[in-house]
Amino acid sequence: MPTVLVNGLKREIEAPSDTPLLYVLRNNLELTGPQFGCGLAQCGSCSVLLNGKEVRSCITPLSAALGKEVTTLEGLPARWAKQKKLIGPEAAHVLHPVQEAWIAEQTPLCGYSQNGMMIKATELLESNPSPTIDQIKEAFTKSGPSPHLCRCGAYTAIIESVQRAAGIMARSNL
Ligand code: FES
Repeated sequence: MPTVLVNGLKREIEAPSDTPLLYVLRNNLELTGPQFGCGLAQCGSCSVLLNGKEVRSCITPLSAALGKEVTTLEGLPARWAKQKKLIGPEAAHVLHPVQEAWIAEQTPLCGYSQNGMMIKATELLESNPSPTIDQIKEAFTKSGPSPHLCRCGAYTAIIESVQRAAGIMARSNL
């Protein structure tokens, strides 16, 4: 049976290897952070990190995730705890700075697209801890197979949230 490392846990998956990763995450593993939007890699709602890189899980087959590390929205706190070497209750109760920032800025409107926005923000900040506004815009519009879409138009709040998350991350290094 195929085994995938999801949010730090080895999970055995009972599904054909060409099953979209999104279906595996939502239906087999009950991880409902990744959303089904377009199903065609054109909106970003389904994004997850695969070995730290954002992929559209709606078009990524299960076979592509074998032997790799999948991080979903649900796994962001543990990802941050591991990076900061937090343990015990501190690790158990921490939020990822991206999540903290999204809450502080009250970024989501309907919320549907925010999974992909937060995953993209995490990928960006792990490679560029202090992005400019232009770099943030570029990451959300040009670095994947299509721009990340938010039908509510919360784009300004999303940019401000990425900047806030960058600030939280920088302070965590002091
Ligand atoms: S649902 Fe995957 S990109 Fe839209």
